[in-house]
Amino acid sequence: MGEEGRSCPLAYRYSQADLCWQVSESSADVLYVIGGLYGNVLALDENERMAREEERQGRRVQLVFNGDFNWFNASDELFGAINERVLEHTVSLGNVEYELAHPSPGTGCGCAYPEFVDQGVVERSNRIIERLQNVASSHPDIRQRLGDLPRYRCLMFGGLKILVLHGDPESLAGWGLAHEAFAEGNEAGLAEWFKSTGADAMVCTHTCLPVLWSGLVAKQARVVVNNGSAGMGNLQNDPRGLITRIGASGPSVEPVATLERRGLHFSLMPVAFDHQAWMDRFDALWPTGSDAEVSYRNRLFNGTSLAAGDVVFPSGF
Ligand SMILES: [Fe+2]
Repeated sequence: MGEEGRSCPLAYRYSQADLCWQVSESSADVLYVIGGLYGNVLALDENERMAREEERQGRRVQLVFNGDFNWFNASDELFGAINERVLEHTVSLGNVEYELAHPSPGTGCGCAYPEFVDQGVVERSNRIIERLQNVASSHPDIRQRLGDLPRYRCLMFGGLKILVLHGDPESLAGWGLAHEAFAEGNEAGLAEWFKSTGADAMVCTHTCLPVLWSGLVAKQARVVVNNGSAGMGNLQNDPRGLITRIGASGPSVEPVATLERRGLHFSLMPVAFDHQAWMDRFDALWPTGSDAEVSYRNRLFNGTSLAAGDVVFPSGF
């Protein structure tokens, strides 16, 4: 696991006991946790519109970005626009932002891709981050601000500790909360992570497929939500992004999946951004044969192979 794009830099690792050591109180009525925007400025427009609609209905929304808001935005204009807008909100790092702020030789994109991810995907991702690092080099102010971001946050919201991560409780780029990990069965590991962090819910992204899990740990209901990607399709024949919404009241539009635990509604909400407008921007930056076009264009149009029912764990309930 020492090859570029498959390794996990030491700086990505953290102590589980530290994750909820510092807790900040949220006074909002609703949290939107937005992971994996991947430079999709139209999805950002839609997230902001969704928040305004909630506010029109009397609910204050806190936008929380938990990393990888950069990726396809490989132009000076789009790089500046995405970062200036996102950094207005509550933000923590993804591996992409870490590698923009602190390019580390031999790390590539920092995704720590596991064995089941094709080598071609890994190599193209390494070239995408190189291109983005070149753009970022013209924006030292933004790089500085990215470098100052924390790697995780713990929010006290609705009386629960909501641990906001990028990867998993061991690493910024960990795959322990990936859809694939839940599909294989990771209950024992999850129980340990909830005990060692003291979190009531973990909200993550990074691995690009959505998960909504709930279970009992130490006689208390706990929740994991992985939003997949806010800026790319997540389900079959569905190009909409997904974000995590948490609130004492449920969503007023149809969620992809939702559950209520300990007085809070945890929902995966679709982000129905202007798809044609985004594809026009994407195609201009990543023409046919380019690394992002080869790796992602099909997903941007067609989503993944998952049905909505496939994202809920334990399955069968
Ligand atoms: Fe990531």
